[in-house]
Amino acid sequence: MHPLSRRRALQLGGLGVAGIVVGGAGLITAAPARISTAGGEILAPPPGLTASGGSLDLTLTAAVGDTTLAGRRATTLRYNGTVPGPTLYLSAGDHLGVDLVNNLAEPTNLHTHGLQVTPQGNSDNPFVMIEPGRTFHYDYRIPADHPPGTYWYHPHHHGRTADQVFGGLYGAIVIGEPTPLQVSADRVLVISDITLDAVGVASASAMDRMQGREGDLVLVNGQQTPHLEIAPGARERWRIVNACVSRYLRLQLTGQQLELLGVDLLDGGRAQIVDELLLAPGNRADVLVTTAAGAAVLQALPYDRGSAMGMGGGMGSRRRTPGAIIDLVGFTVAGSAPATSPVTVDRPASLDLRAISDVRHRALTMAMGMGMGATGSATIDGRAFDANRIDQTVRAGAVEEWTISNTSPMDHPFHLHVWPMQVISVGGQLAVLPTWRNVVSVPARSNAVVRIAFGPQTGTTVYHCHILDHEDNGMMGVVSVG
Ligand code: C2O
Ligand code: CU
Ligand code: CU
Repeated sequence: MHPLSRRRALQLGGLGVAGIVVGGAGLITAAPARISTAGGEILAPPPGLTASGGSLDLTLTAAVGDTTLAGRRATTLRYNGTVPGPTLYLSAGDHLGVDLVNNLAEPTNLHTHGLQVTPQGNSDNPFVMIEPGRTFHYDYRIPADHPPGTYWYHPHHHGRTADQVFGGLYGAIVIGEPTPLQVSADRVLVISDITLDAVGVASASAMDRMQGREGDLVLVNGQQTPHLEIAPGARERWRIVNACVSRYLRLQLTGQQLELLGVDLLDGGRAQIVDELLLAPGNRADVLVTTAAGAAVLQALPYDRGSAMGMGGGMGSRRRTPGAIIDLVGFTVAGSAPATSPVTVDRPASLDLRAISDVRHRALTMAMGMGMGATGSATIDGRAFDANRIDQTVRAGAVEEWTISNTSPMDHPFHLHVWPMQVISVGGQLAVLPTWRNVVSVPARSNAVVRIAFGPQTGTTVYHCHILDHEDNGMMGVVSVG
């Protein structure tokens, strides 16, 4: 066992709304972390495409191909020939045009996760279906006041989303700040998982789909435990995306200072020093890393998200055995220190909806059952997803409070498209600071309360569990705002 695991597990006991444990008292006194040399490759960024003159136009081709992943060749899905696909660098006010070419053998489409763009027409419309061999033109207008930060894109064709993301279809989107933070490096780390077999990507069993599949390999930018060399005293910004289908990432960076700028959306005010970060599937984190000489490793620690095995009367509450510690990226911090001046993180205070008294209340319940075939049932309010049924009708401009209950023995990361959610409480524990999320983990047999300002975008879109196997299984609903 790793020397830190028990202490970390204890600290996690008080894990609250923000999904973080704030350091300060927690001095890191661990023995030097082991660095896996399994991959030994230098961490490489995904290819980047940058808007110029206010727009970015690209062709994004989804296809099967022979890909180098985790240091070996495998037949995977990919966008434009790479896993992850290209990172799209944009600014508020930009126009993004994507010709999505479907060279897969099944339907697909594209979702811009977290972007506050219209869900109508050929913008972020999850009901679009692109048949094999067809091309669809997406046209996204990023509002002039769109929050900067880290976002991502992935397919969203109901019933095939988990397989397509697991197969390799995902990429990051960066909305830059008007005045970029002064950092020594700005890196994208897309974390995903996959299981490879002799022919390519392993298919998921019925049990995998009920539980939410987790891959044997956990990759960073498609690499297994890549390595990075950084000079001491450097201050880097990392944009971390949890693109795993079902895996929660409880991240820890041993021996180095980690400051959180925000999960999903950047928080107002100063960055907070954290010991670890919990990212549910779909969550992103923006962090600052200030390096001190020595070795370091970014790790994923075990996290127990509960088990579908706990369902049904006789099966009790048997939990899956928590996994091992996974080394994600190894670091050598050596060389001569550059002269760095501290970064001033000067961000406006977050909007806070808690002072609003005129809110409409709504209750939603996420549930799982043993019936309905091999993969069981996964529902919201007792119903499986139906694209032709509107489940929630919301008045444009309204502020609503949603209480999302979870009656199942597993955590479910609740995601709403387009409109970010302000976390009011998770498991009864109140948020202290304004905390905004696109994905809020609703703990097993518990609930989460959020507030949402439904504007300025209007239209019909979806909310769902971001364990994508659960989404494909029906844990998704339709919201119409207008
Ligand atoms: Cu990232 Cu509807 O999902
Ligand atoms: Cu989304
Ligand atoms: Cu779920």
